[in-house]
Amino acid sequence: MHFHKFEKIWLVFGILSLVIFLSIVGVTAFSHGHTPAGGMDIIDPEKVHETAPFNKPGVHKIDEDTYEVVIIGMAFGYNPAQIKVPAGKEIIFTVTSTDVVHSFTIDDTKVNMMAVPGRITHKSYTFNNPGKYLVLCNEYCGAGHHLMQTEIEVYE
Ligand code: CUA
Repeated sequence: MHFHKFEKIWLVFGILSLVIFLSIVGVTAFSHGHTPAGGMDIIDPEKVHETAPFNKPGVHKIDEDTYEVVIIGMAFGYNPAQIKVPAGKEIIFTVTSTDVVHSFTIDDTKVNMMAVPGRITHKSYTFNNPGKYLVLCNEYCGAGHHLMQTEIEVYE
C-alpha cells in the first residue's frame, strides 16, 4: 500500500508540473498576443487577405504618436508597395506572409523581421531621420528573391 501512496504523490507531482508548465506557456502566448511591440500571433495563411489587420494593408494612425504599418510579404514583393511614415513617431510594423518565409528588413536600422506564413510578427521602431529607407528580403525565398524589395519614405 505504501508503494501506491508514493506513486500517487509522483503522479500528482507530475500533473502539477505539467499544469504549471502549460500555464507558463499559455500566459506567454497570451501576453504576446496582446503586446503590439513584440512576439508572434498565429493566422491562417490561406485567409490572410480577409483577416484583420491584413485585409487593410498599409499605414494606419493609432494615435498622435503611434502608427501601425500592416505588411503582407509574398513571392516576390510586399503589399503595400508604397509605405510613408512620419519621423519621430513610434511605428509598429505588423508582418505576415502568404506563401513562404520572407523577411522584412529595413536597411540601416535594427528592423529585421521574419515574414512567416501562419504567423504575425510585430516590431516597433522610430525613425529619427527623414529620408528613404530600402527594405529587403534577406531570407532566400525562390527565383525572385533578389528582386524582393521596397522602400519606406520617412517624412518630417
Ligand atoms: Cu522573399 Cu527572399
